[in-house]
Amino acid sequence: MNPIKESTVEEKIKQLRELTEKAKLGGGKKRIEAQHKKGKLTARERIELLLDPGSFMELDQFVVHQCTEFGMAERKIPGDGVVTGYGTINGRLVYVFSQDFTVFGGSLGEMFAKKVCKLMDLALKTGAPVIGLNDSGGARIQEGVASLAGYGDIFFRNVTASGVIPQISAILGPCAGGAVYSPALTDFIVMVDQTSHMFITGPQVIKTVVGQEVSFEELGGALVHSQISGVTHFIAKDEEHCIQIIKRLLSYLPSNYLEDPPIVETGDDPNRTDEGLASVIPDDPDKPYDVKEIISRVVDNGEFLEVQPLWAPNIVTGFARLNGRTVGIVANQPSFYAGALDINSSVKGGRFVRFCDAFNIPIITFVDVPGFLPGIEQEHGGIIRHGSKLLYAYCEATVPKITLIVRKAYGGAYDVMGSKHSGGDINYAWPTAEIAVMGPHAAINIIFRKEITEATDPKQKRVELVSEYRRKFASPYVAAQKGYIDEVIEPTETRPKLISALEMLATKREAKPPKKHANIPL
Ligand code: HXC
Repeated sequence: MNPIKESTVEEKIKQLRELTEKAKLGGGKKRIEAQHKKGKLTARERIELLLDPGSFMELDQFVVHQCTEFGMAERKIPGDGVVTGYGTINGRLVYVFSQDFTVFGGSLGEMFAKKVCKLMDLALKTGAPVIGLNDSGGARIQEGVASLAGYGDIFFRNVTASGVIPQISAILGPCAGGAVYSPALTDFIVMVDQTSHMFITGPQVIKTVVGQEVSFEELGGALVHSQISGVTHFIAKDEEHCIQIIKRLLSYLPSNYLEDPPIVETGDDPNRTDEGLASVIPDDPDKPYDVKEIISRVVDNGEFLEVQPLWAPNIVTGFARLNGRTVGIVANQPSFYAGALDINSSVKGGRFVRFCDAFNIPIITFVDVPGFLPGIEQEHGGIIRHGSKLLYAYCEATVPKITLIVRKAYGGAYDVMGSKHSGGDINYAWPTAEIAVMGPHAAINIIFRKEITEATDPKQKRVELVSEYRRKFASPYVAAQKGYIDEVIEPTETRPKLISALEMLATKREAKPPKKHANIPL
């Protein structure tokens, strides 16, 4: 590119247009075709799908790499493998970088990283979300340590921006090596099924170093990271679906930590009651049911964006609206492990609560928890350390916290799940609530062991004692008498009650003692 030559204004404008057209082609038509053949869109097509029509303003279109090694001096492509800029989604400002696999496999070098850093700096200064569309072979090998430095500069900014602006990563192709850490440092990851992969060391290296054979998909496909590792928060069936998820997610979030989430006119009556809620909980207290039925009956128009639906399903997390206000929902799921808390569900819930707290999103907790999952695997895996993350997150959160105990709230898990003692602002219970140190069977086995073994009919004695314990403790009334439950409500009136508490708490301000930062048990 040599734009400096003697020419007319008209010629100069023509030249700019030509240069722009060339830059838009990235790695060229052949590579674009290859990208399409893999079922993937190009970097620019993705941006077009994501942003409001005509809103994209590109930056640094003519940036090229400065590398001269390995014949790179002759291979300069305007834009250098990443398209960066800003635009709007539903009229709200966002920043986006979109890695271009047609240019050196989307690999990241010094100038590529500088473009991304410039964008992140602007996003931080103006307080708007950053969306990263990742499709890259990782560090650009020809640029050596300059690529590693570039990644490092991005990681640093990811951490600086954490809790200030929402950061969302879409994984739309390979994402290897240290490249996975930038997405991992962001708030949410969306992976596309079959065409995206994330791993620190790929199948080839694994084969060489540890002798294990594994495919890309089995190692780091979207399903693996949705179900097993918990790395990704959403799985999309294709790229269009991925973009839809990002837009929907953003609709619940404020642009930065100083703003409240947008209030949306949903058209759902805030005073709507629901007779059906009274029959969701089975008469048999040990029978499972789907807590998502309660959620969908209560929230505006039944719309619930579940976060990490496939990982640790014994806790449900996600976003919804109550009378148009965004809420983060955390709920025990009795249909998996009876809703017991284990390592993964504690980590999942803890991270979600902290995200909500960082971005002024009130937390609504639905409790039906028999306790922490017992077992050697859990204890040796560090349930003490990981379980405390959820407890810590609830205690630390200063956003409005409204909790509803629908059935069981036993043991330490009662304290953890948004109880009055972990800072719950308004704590409701249904009449079906059972709040005690432990379930009736376990409890009477401990406190009446002697009476049971010495009874003439131990079986009958056990039945009597369980029934007596249930009558005394398996209810919300002892807790209500102590003020740990603010109100015992009828299931039917759950929605209006939650909305009234939410609106009452809209101006909540709570200050914690000054400190450098807290020390969550990681
Ligand atoms: C430079 C790269 C590249 C890289 C791919 N290309 N990865 N160029 N640096 N890291 C180039 C290829 O040479 C090729 O160029 C083009 O991109 C397309 O690559 P293909 O291999 O033809 O595509 P495909 O078969 O789809 O395979 C994609 C791939 C594979 C799975 C990503 O290219 C691959 O394994 N790349 C290396 C991945 C990796 O190990 N990266 C480094 C990770 S270490 P031409 O000109 O032929 O089209 C890392 C450290 C970061 O990232 C640490 C941060 C702290």
